[in-house]
Amino acid sequence: MRDTTGAVRGEMLAVAFQCLLDLDGGYGASFIAAERVNHDAFGVDPAIFGQFFPIVRDTCREAVGSEWTPEFDAAWDAVLARVGALAPA
Ligand code: HEM
Repeated sequence: MRDTTGAVRGEMLAVAFQCLLDLDGGYGASFIAAERVNHDAFGVDPAIFGQFFPIVRDTCREAVGSEWTPEFDAAWDAVLARVGALAPA
């Protein structure tokens, strides 16, 4: 909406990666759960918010191309299952 330069989208992606990397810490899970509610107030349906993380996985897979391995899929599946419980799509 007000993101005329792409800075907000860049920040959202950076923070999303921080959350994924910190799911075992105190920050990531709480942040995702809190932003799901904040985003509802921005007009972002919680179901749409939950779709963000699988899209990040798909985009990473596309960028990595032929170097993507079954281990990457397994690691993402595990993380996305945990995120899905916090932010169902
Ligand atoms: C498809 C999913 C999403 C949509 C459509 C969306 C959309 C938005 C919008 C419209 C804003 C307000 C921008 C403005 O100030 O004009 C915003 C802010 C923000 N978003 Fe998202 N977002 C999504 C997912 C996420 C995710 C997954 C995260 C991180 C886990 C995130 C983190 C943030 C942060 C940190 C802000 C800055 C404001 C705040 O602290 O709440 N967003 N987003």
